[in-house]
Formats: sequence, structure tokens, C-alpha cells
Amino acid sequence: MSEVIYKKEGNVAVLGINRPKALNALSRKIVDDIGEAVAQVAADETVRALLIYSEKNFAAGADIGDMVECSEDEAKAFVFSPVYNQIEALQIPTIAAIDGFALGGGLELALTCDIRFAAETAKMGFPEINLGIMPGAGGTIRAPRLIGASAAMELIFSGNTIGAERALQLGLVNRVTAEETLYEEALKFAGKLAAKAPIAMKTAKKTILDGLNASSVTAGIDMECDNWASLFRTADQKEGMRAFLEKRKPDYQGK
Ligand code: CAA
Repeated sequence: MSEVIYKKEGNVAVLGINRPKALNALSRKIVDDIGEAVAQVAADETVRALLIYSEKNFAAGADIGDMVECSEDEAKAFVFSPVYNQIEALQIPTIAAIDGFALGGGLELALTCDIRFAAETAKMGFPEINLGIMPGAGGTIRAPRLIGASAAMELIFSGNTIGAERALQLGLVNRVTAEETLYEEALKFAGKLAAKAPIAMKTAKKTILDGLNASSVTAGIDMECDNWASLFRTADQKEGMRAFLEKRKPDYQGK
């Protein structure tokens, strides 16, 4: 049985890890299989949102047994970032739903997503420092951008594990749910995003991400203005506004 689960729930793709005995620790093979599933997501125009969710434990990090004897070159080949960057580059909205442990490379997987839900019992952290290394799958780069350098340093330097409420306070996760309803609530939310006008969604995501790297606020605002105006070329803009005026639900075609 595959250790990566990929399925579709309507227009939402659901991706998960199935290696319960190792708390869904990430082997190289699992990460490569995630990469293949992500390529499928990118190629499938009917997929309008991605949910990453693994039962019981999101992922307890990279497989330590696989890394212990790595040389520097082998560590470079083991690194998960090419696949993680592939997830971040998806044009559709992506959501991570964190149950149980999301540690090290597991938390870094969640950080590739646009939005994170966590069960109130979830536990998150970067324990790499306790293994004589540091995060190497985007943690030192994405976490400071999300929660600020000092909060990221606290997590990365201490190797401490934090609960969902603290993660919510820090802005590491967006929402906390009961453990029993995590999957259902995250899937429902993903479904809502999947039903919005796809070109507007894609353009909003691109504008936000490009805006973070804009050379100045003014340059960012100029780019936003162009992207915003470009949506008036779409049939979905006409449909969305006409539906509002006609007091009916819009029927978006992705055009
Ligand atoms: N790699 C390999 N195996 C792992 C693992 C990991 N990251 N995490 C858990 N496992 C395995 C354990 O070895 C154990 O296997 P056995 O039953 O065969 O002994 C099984 O999963 C269950 O784990 P525990 O018995 O340890 O469960 P616990 O409830 O007592 O503790 C835990 C849970 C606190 C998460 C603990 O397992 C732990 O500390 N795991 C390691 C977490 C970690 O350090 N992750 C970061 C890895 S480095 C990384 O991710 C680098 C990067 O930037 C890419």
C-alpha cells in the first residue's frame, strides 16, 4: 500500500501521508511521491484547491534513520525543498490541516501551504537543533516571513514543541478546531475556496506572493492595480457582478 494518499473530493485534491507506525515521518520516497501527486494537481484544471492532511499525525519530520549517516553531498540530495517549492508554486489555494505532530520537515510541509488549520491537540515545532542540525526544508526562510524573525528564532533555537493555541497566537496557524472535526472543517473550507472564481483566486494568490517580494509598496500597488484590472477581461467578473445585481448565486466558468 502506498505511503502517500491522493484523492479528489469534488474540486478539492486531498494529499496525505500513510506511515502511521513512524508517525508519518517523511522518507525520501514519500516526498518524491508527494512531488508526483503535486504534479498531478498542477496539471488537473478541475482541481481548484489542495488540502494536505494525514490521519493522527501530520508528519513527525524527516526520517532520522535515513539521514543519520549522510555526508554533506548526500544531505544535499536528500533535501525536500524542490518538492516543497513545487507545492508553494501551485496557483490554487492550499491548506494544511494539522492533527497530532507536525515537526521539523512536517511543519515545513505545512508552511508551504497558504493557510493552516490545526486540531486543538496538535503539536508543532522545529526539533532539528536537538539533533545537531537546523531546519533544512524552508523552515528558516518561511517561518520568519510568517511569524517574524524573533518568534521563528525562539522556535528554531529552542527546539520546543508548542500547542495549537500558542501556534494560533503566533500566527503559525490560522484556525484551531476540535480534533474530531479538523478534517471535515478544513475540507469544507477548501471546498468554499474551490467554488470561487478561479482566475480571481489565482490572481489574488500571485499578487499576494509577488507583493511580498516587491521592491517597494508603490511598486507592489502598481502591480496590484494591473492584476486587478486584468480581471475585468474575464467572463467570471461579469458573472460575479451581474449575479450580485440580479440577486442570484454566480456560476463561475473559470474564463
Ligand atoms: N524519523 C524516524 N522515525 C521516527 C520519527 C522521525 N522523524 N519520528 C518518529 N519516528 C518513529 C520512532 O522512531 C518510533 O519508531 P519505533 O516504534 O520503530 O521505535 C515511532 O515513530 C513512534 O515514535 P515514538 O516512540 O518516539 O513516539 P512518542 O510518542 O514517544 O514520541 C515524538 C513522539 C515526540 C514525535 C518522537 O517520535 C520524536 O521526537 N520524533 C522525532 C521528531 C523530530 O526530531 N523531527 C525532526 C526530524 S529532522 C527534520 O525534519 C529535518 C528537516 O529539516 C527536513
